[in-house]
Amino acid sequence: MVQVTELGYIGFGVKNADEWKQFATQTVGLELADDGEPDRFYLRMDNWHHRLAVHTNGSDDLEYLGFRVPGPDEFGEMRHQLSEAGINYRVGSDEEAVERHVLEILKIEDPGGNPVEIFHGPEIQFSKPFYPGRRMHGRFNTGTGGLGHCIIRQNDTSAARRFYMQLGMRGGIEYKIRMGNRIVTPVFMHCNDRDHTVAFGVGPQKRRLNHIMVEVDNLDDVGLTHDLVRKHQVPVTITPGKHSNDHMYSFYFRNPSGWMFEYGYGGRPATHQSEYYIEDVYGHQPESGGFGDPD
Ligand SMILES: [Fe+2]
Repeated sequence: MVQVTELGYIGFGVKNADEWKQFATQTVGLELADDGEPDRFYLRMDNWHHRLAVHTNGSDDLEYLGFRVPGPDEFGEMRHQLSEAGINYRVGSDEEAVERHVLEILKIEDPGGNPVEIFHGPEIQFSKPFYPGRRMHGRFNTGTGGLGHCIIRQNDTSAARRFYMQLGMRGGIEYKIRMGNRIVTPVFMHCNDRDHTVAFGVGPQKRRLNHIMVEVDNLDDVGLTHDLVRKHQVPVTITPGKHSNDHMYSFYFRNPSGWMFEYGYGGRPATHQSEYYIEDVYGHQPESGGFGDPD
């Protein structure tokens, strides 16, 4: 079976481009890359052309997730695999691949209606080393683990799990969390050493996107970012703490679109036998509205 290897890029739409540029560079530490296109700008985390494509279309939500396969042979095999699974796909034109800065691309939709792209051959700019938008102690952890992970909206978590299994992912329920009167059982899917690359089932969401997690290789960057978030009066939605599933020491904060970034350090590799947890190791208390998404 062909497996996607990483979450390579994410596209999302925003209303306020200027506020986003300021926030992404000065608070998150991402590098702004602007190719002069009137309807978008890019955010870099490493030597890829970009990891986040920001479309100034006003949606303030997810536009697409890009999952990588190793090369042209796996790309061809993935087409066969999708057909066998009864998943409709459309191979993107050369122009569509150029637009994403990849060699080849195909487009599908997950059961929650989230646009998903499978690609190979991202443009890597070795001549343009990553230059953070503000000081950093270390680096973003990307490498074979991709850009990080995201939690997205699904109405039917079983159907979503089956869909992502058809892309070669593994995973399942990792938590049984009490939220008010309900027990919430989010599902976490992995395709590399990260505990999870995509997850869903955290309860009702107004937006497709709940959060994107980025990981740094130096604990001091979590502290520095937390200081900057507080200084810039950005709402912290989950206070610093440590997750039981990926062991990430992290905190969550709201971005100008209303969904969240999780900023983490020290994640452990995915377990290859299922486990579940009823709470985190410590910390991670809700604040300013917590984990849900506001209006
Ligand atoms: Fe997360």
